[in-house]
Amino acid sequence: MLILRSPAAMTAWSRSVQREGGTIGFVPTMGALHEGHRALIRRARLTCDAVVVSIFVNPAQFGPREDYARYPRPFRRDARLCREEGIDVLFAPSASAMYPAGFQTVVVVPEISKRWEGEQRPQHFSGVATVVTKLFGIVRPDQSIFGQKDYQQVCVIRRLVADLNLGTSIVVHPTVREPDGLALSSRNAYLTERQRRLAPLLYRALQTGAATVKRGVSSGALVRQGMVRVIRKEPLIAIDYLAVCDPDTLEPLHRITRNALLLGAVRIGAETPKKTERTVRTVRLIDNLLVTRR
Ligand code: PAJ
Repeated sequence: MLILRSPAAMTAWSRSVQREGGTIGFVPTMGALHEGHRALIRRARLTCDAVVVSIFVNPAQFGPREDYARYPRPFRRDARLCREEGIDVLFAPSASAMYPAGFQTVVVVPEISKRWEGEQRPQHFSGVATVVTKLFGIVRPDQSIFGQKDYQQVCVIRRLVADLNLGTSIVVHPTVREPDGLALSSRNAYLTERQRRLAPLLYRALQTGAATVKRGVSSGALVRQGMVRVIRKEPLIAIDYLAVCDPDTLEPLHRITRNALLLGAVRIGAETPKKTERTVRTVRLIDNLLVTRR
């Protein structure tokens, strides 16, 4: 496995593979790799001759009060995992290689970025769209694999690739979960024991919504109410949003005719919130389920 730090070296490597007729599968990540990332890497292996994984904690997609500084960066462990998975190149550029002095271009996908995560995290999706455009330009992948876990991110990237003719196909892999349903995430490392016990409630709320849709309920509002009720039972969890949406436009669905996307984000509070304590550390979780009405 090659570890490349320089964008120019990465592009040169990809060009040489493609000159020989090889195809490149690409899995962009921010590291702290887990079974979810591993599943994407294996998916890339299935259909491509060579696999590139990038690890880059992208400062542009974190808000000023978010966790950029403390985001986990276990690089040696990640590199070992990539080696075990038999990837060809681990591309791990520095922030200054990706954003050198004078950098100013920003990629915005305005409509699909507006709601849900976009509303909670302004600039997040332009940070994602910008870095992913750069990574595609550097790696030149034939196929790129993303997780359904970040459903809105996939929508943004699909739009971006179509609008800017970025020339990679996009494959979406289902969300990998813990046995109790919690979606794997690098941020799960932040959860205390107590928070970890509460965390599967988001998935349970989505499952409740899915069961309601499958029973034939067509009112988006009713399905949403059922999901809200599940979360409200737990006072330590606050809802950022819970929504029943159109899987393509992400607009709220008032009437479910066939497919619906159940989308949620919650904050799990600190376990001993003291009135005097200003910095109560909450952990934010997102998840989603696609459901089809019978
Ligand atoms: P990161 O959070 O590291 O995720 C990298 C990829 O792994 C994403 O496509 C994400 O959807 C996928 N993933 C994460 N958890 C998953 C799970 N439990 N099951 C399946 N797939 C999962 O998403 C990013 O990084 C960044 O925004 C990035 C696209 C790299 C741009 O910086």
